[in-house]
Order: sequence, then structure tokens, then C-alpha cells
Amino acid sequence: MHILFLNPQGNFDSKDSYWTEHPDFGGQLVYVKEIALAIAAQGHKVDIVARRITDEKWPKFAAQVDAYPNHPNVRIVRIPCGPPQFLAKEELWPYLGTDWVQGIIDFYTQEGRLPDVVTTHYGDGGLAGAVLKQKTGIPFTFTGHSLGAQKMDKLHVNRANLAEVDARYQFRYRIMGERISMNHAARIITSTRQEQLEQYSHLAYRQAIDVAEPDGTRFAVIPPGVNRQVFSPEPQAIDGTIQERIVSAMRRDLAADRLALPLVICSSRLDRKKNHLGLVRAFVESAELRATANLGIAIRGLENPLDDRAKLKDEEKAILDEIVDLLEQHGLRQVVTSFSLNSQAELASAYRVGASKHCVFSLTALYEPFGLAPMEAMSCGLPAVVTCNGGPAESLYDSQTQREYGVLVDPANPTDIARGLLKVFASPESWQKYHDAGIERVITRYTWESTAKGYLAAIEEVAAGKVAPRSVR
Ligand code: F6P
Repeated sequence: MHILFLNPQGNFDSKDSYWTEHPDFGGQLVYVKEIALAIAAQGHKVDIVARRITDEKWPKFAAQVDAYPNHPNVRIVRIPCGPPQFLAKEELWPYLGTDWVQGIIDFYTQEGRLPDVVTTHYGDGGLAGAVLKQKTGIPFTFTGHSLGAQKMDKLHVNRANLAEVDARYQFRYRIMGERISMNHAARIITSTRQEQLEQYSHLAYRQAIDVAEPDGTRFAVIPPGVNRQVFSPEPQAIDGTIQERIVSAMRRDLAADRLALPLVICSSRLDRKKNHLGLVRAFVESAELRATANLGIAIRGLENPLDDRAKLKDEEKAILDEIVDLLEQHGLRQVVTSFSLNSQAELASAYRVGASKHCVFSLTALYEPFGLAPMEAMSCGLPAVVTCNGGPAESLYDSQTQREYGVLVDPANPTDIARGLLKVFASPESWQKYHDAGIERVITRYTWESTAKGYLAAIEEVAAGKVAPRSVR
């Protein structure tokens, strides 16, 4: 089959050139790329369709067609969408259903053949997929990745702040795009059953989708995978460099008598919903945690993020300002270090170096739709202490067998975050138990090959017309 992956935000190029500093970088780009490659490896033609960008700051996104080395069945096809320069994902809405879809149709018409099926990603991809289907009849699947309604809830949107928040995040277009995607997709793909039942049943999506039967049959639960070539526990050449970088940051930032303690490593992008402050509060409030470990915050692009935070964008700087203020109020500035990690390879290396020093990974997001980062850390042998809100509730705990693969904590409760971290640090045996269980969980359930199999099964059903959208309204 010839399959499109519509992903207008972020972007793709043969070397993943800007993935760490790109403002719209995140797990979704990794997800789309890995599944596209895994499906193409099974003999299908796959095009990742992104936005063509002519902007001197992003030169790698200017060519109309690009490819990944050694993946002849995959193309990156870039179609203009609005003005030529880079635009953040929130600014794309006005151009998706017009410019971008028409450009896609023109491109494939000119090639002489329309694709068989389309997979769409995030509300922007889904909106384009629905318009493309309306114009060509080509069916599509929709993967939300992250839904606007949950983000609005976590940002505590209310009547008083709605205009201000909406001006920044364009929720009015995003919720509309998500509703249209859900209503017209032949298949809705989620990473967990909980995502289907909790996220898609949000009041904002009422009458666009019915998560219970019979519409429940339109959902397919397909967990994403971990790139185990990158996130491998096996030592790599880069590890020496990353160890030196982290140790020199520790020597720079931490009190001399704290240097022997392990790190709690946090590598989330600086976004309020990732709740870095909750993790810092756990250290501020728990003397026992402070006696056990230091906090290491990894930020892309800055060698000394906490001290050089003025170089960051306002929102990112504000998050670090709050952290530094809180630490300084309590005289605890020397309990936290920060350093840069500028690629997936460096991230994986930091996880391996952390595992060799009996460190722990933590992600205390207020809500995490799936949570690939904890799985990547676990794949490198780093035990994970993670928010119980969202996907980690299924990936880190098996309710059938009652087996734990990491520790789940309440991100709104610093005491519980400290409890979870101390549970792993409690003894060498405890740390080892979560180290072993984490690797086992990834190997047995979260590889991209198994994800691709799930996608192909859904795509083949859609292509065969076995599932069709039931427009509720
Ligand atoms: O495009 C960057 C990205 O982080 C994606 O990886 C992710 O799916 C999406 O943004 C999340 O967007 P939001 O925070 O607006 O829900």
C-alpha cells in the first residue's frame, strides 16, 4: 500500500537536524518517524507529509522531497502551508484545509496516483485529513497525541482568562480541528485504553465522538515503541563526554558534600504542564529526599540553564525563575544542578550514565497523554518515577498481574513524589528491581515493530472499508 502520514507541525529531515531546539519538537515527531520507517520496512510505500518551510533559520525544510538514508520506501514530502517562513503549530490552523490540502492533492495528482490510506497526527493533521477525505474520498486514521481539552484543563482555562489563553494557544481552532478529526476518521488510534475512555470522552468532544460502544469499535489501542538502537543500555562512545558534562555541572552547582549522591534526572521540555516545579517542591519539602539525592534538570541548548535562563523564551524562563526563586527562598540552590542535552543520543547517554550511578528518572507532568520519555529512560536501565495521570498508569503498572515496572506518583502532591522517589532509592535491591522491570517492560511491549504491526492492521481494515466513520452529528 501507499500510505501518507500527515504531520504539519514540527518537521522532518534526513538527519533530524533540529529536533532538540525546534520549538515544535516532541515525542510526536519521533513517533511518526519510527512508525513510518517500521511500516515501510514491511514493504509499503510511506510518505511523511510535512510543511514546506523557506526560512534561513530552517534551511533543511526547504526541499519539496527528502528521504532517510537506507530507507528507500520512505519519503518526506513538504507541501507549502500558509506563508513560506517557519510558523509555530498554533499559527497553522487557517492554512491547513485550504493551501495545504490542495497542495497535497496537486502533488499526488501530478505524480499520477493518490495514496491508498492516510494516517493523521494531532488536531492539525486530522483536520487536513478530513478535508482531504471530503475532496478525494481517501479514508484516514486519527491519532490525537495530545488533545486541547486536557491542555485547557491543566492550564485552568476559565471565562476570565479564556481570551488571553486562547490568543496564545488558539484552542478555538484546535478543539474544532480535533472534533472534525474524531467525527470523520475511520479509525481513532490511542496509546492506551485510558486515553480513549478519559481523553476522548471530555465534554469538549461531546457529539463529535462516542467512546462507548458502538463507536468504541472505531478506536484502536496501539502502544508506541522505544527506539532501542538509540535508547540502549549498552555503553556507547558518547557516554564519556556526557558523563564529564554532567559531573562538571554537579561540581559547579552542588554543595561539595553532596557530590556523591545520585541524581533524580528530569528531561521534560520546559512547558507548564510538565510540572518541573512539583518535582522541585518534593526536594524542598522532604529532608529525607535531600539526604538521598540531588535533582538534575536537563534543558536543550543551554550549558548552564538555571544561571543562563535569561536566554530562554519568556515562558521557559518563567518556569526556571520560579524554580530558582523557590530554591533560594529555602537556601537550597545547591541541591539542584542543570545541564544541556542536545539530541536523542545525548539524552540516551545521560540515562545510561545515570543508570551506572544508580540515579532515577522522573516525569511529574500534571497529565501525560502517553509518556514515551519514561519508557526511553527505562530502556537505558534507568528506573522511572512518573505521574499517575495519563498513559503511565498503564505502561508502568499492569492491573491484571499487579506488576510494577516503575513507580507512579501524584504530581500535585510533592510528598507523594518524594515517597515514590524514596521507594526506588530505598535499597540497592529496590533500585535493581525497578531497573530490571523497566527494561523487561520495554522489550516485551513497547517496540516500534509491534506498534507498526498494530497500525498496519488498522490501516488494512480502513483500506478495505471494513470500518467507516459514524458521524454522530
Ligand atoms: O509538536 C511538538 C509537540 O510536543 C508534539 O510532540 C506533541 O504531540 C504536541 O507538541 C503537544 O502539543 P500541546 O502541548 O499543545 O498539547
